[in-house]
Amino acid sequence: MSSALRIAVVPGDGIGVDVTAEAVRALQAVADASGRRLHLQHFEWGADHYLKTGITLPGDALTMLPDNFDAILLGAMGDPRVPDNRHAADILLGLRFRLDLYVNYRPVRLFHEKLCPLKNVTQKDVDFVVFRENTEGLYVMMGGHFKKDTPDEVATEVDLNTRKGVERIIRQAFAHARTHGRTKVVMADKSNVLIHAHELWQRVFKQVAAEHPGIEASHLFADNLALQMVRDPSQFQVVVTSNMFGDILTDLAAALQGGLGMAASGNIHPGRLSLFEPVHGSAPKFAGKNVANPMGAILTAALMLEHLGWAEEARRIEEAVRWAVENDRTTSDIGGPLGTREVGGAIAQRLQA
Ligand code: NAD
Ligand code: IPM
Ligand code: MN
Repeated sequence: MSSALRIAVVPGDGIGVDVTAEAVRALQAVADASGRRLHLQHFEWGADHYLKTGITLPGDALTMLPDNFDAILLGAMGDPRVPDNRHAADILLGLRFRLDLYVNYRPVRLFHEKLCPLKNVTQKDVDFVVFRENTEGLYVMMGGHFKKDTPDEVATEVDLNTRKGVERIIRQAFAHARTHGRTKVVMADKSNVLIHAHELWQRVFKQVAAEHPGIEASHLFADNLALQMVRDPSQFQVVVTSNMFGDILTDLAAALQGGLGMAASGNIHPGRLSLFEPVHGSAPKFAGKNVANPMGAILTAALMLEHLGWAEEARRIEEAVRWAVENDRTTSDIGGPLGTREVGGAIAQRLQA
């Protein structure tokens, strides 16, 4: 038997806790069914832990995690009791930045046409991936206040774009297209306005595209991309964009799949410890109420397994989610009658059958 996969599980806050419990159930069910071993260790990092101890991300986490785990599975971070979101910045953004997880990989797939809010759109029309830059851009928290709390106050936020950062995410998008039989890559920026930062994206994109003659490389301004994703999502295969635009566009892309409850993501540094989390947040108003849709978290677990080489187990989880959607074993956000635990239970049962 192969050695166990070692997963650090960080449920986090709000519905992160609810949906992660179901993702863990699916993982255990698929491992049991295939006779493979998983070692799951839970970490209580999040708002409660921070409010009790003052600790956000423990000091040794950045060495302890890569030394002991193959991947991190995270629920969500965000709690109204921590209005400045300090713990989320340290834990979620801290892990993204300090583990250098530069690829935010967000697949966009429609599991059943009844989930899509658009008219006359079928499963085959919504099937693309977004490569969101994940370590720089507007997320670096550089900036400041000047003359704070006066009528002349000034606030700045730096949009940091490095050649290395831009080039590596664009290269990943092309590499993905090449290895996954995709023929088109579109880059979205606002180089019409951001004449320095996104002019860099333009130049690097053209340079990398020229090295991939078999792949059709095109460009859309990010605002137009938002329009086109709604007008005709079938035109997209691989999208690459900056950190902030990727954040916003993948919430829109989640809506095409049935909502935030259906969307999965991976924060990846190829060849190194990576972190997987649903696209949605902690939805505090639903926390602990057994209403959150666990499918995004369960599909995230599948994405993690696929990344770690358990392709067959990943495929089985996806098949079980598809079955649950087709048979209305779903939560109310996508029109079903069940609670979080009942959906997770139905999927786990299907995986064990
Ligand atoms: P959110 O994703 O928590 O919720 C947005 C909307 O989607 C709400 O209407 C919510 O009810 C719905 N929704 C989200 N997930 C759902 C699910 N699984 N099932 C059913 N409905 C679901 O975003 P928000 O309200 O903007 O943010 C709430 C908190 O979460 C904030 O603190 C924010 O910073 C944080 N957040 C964290 C992450 C993360 O940890 N990756 C991502 C986004 C937001
Ligand atoms: C996401 C979230 C995060 C982001 C927040 C919670 C920092 O919205 O993962 O999409 O903006 O990246
Ligand atoms: Mn987001």
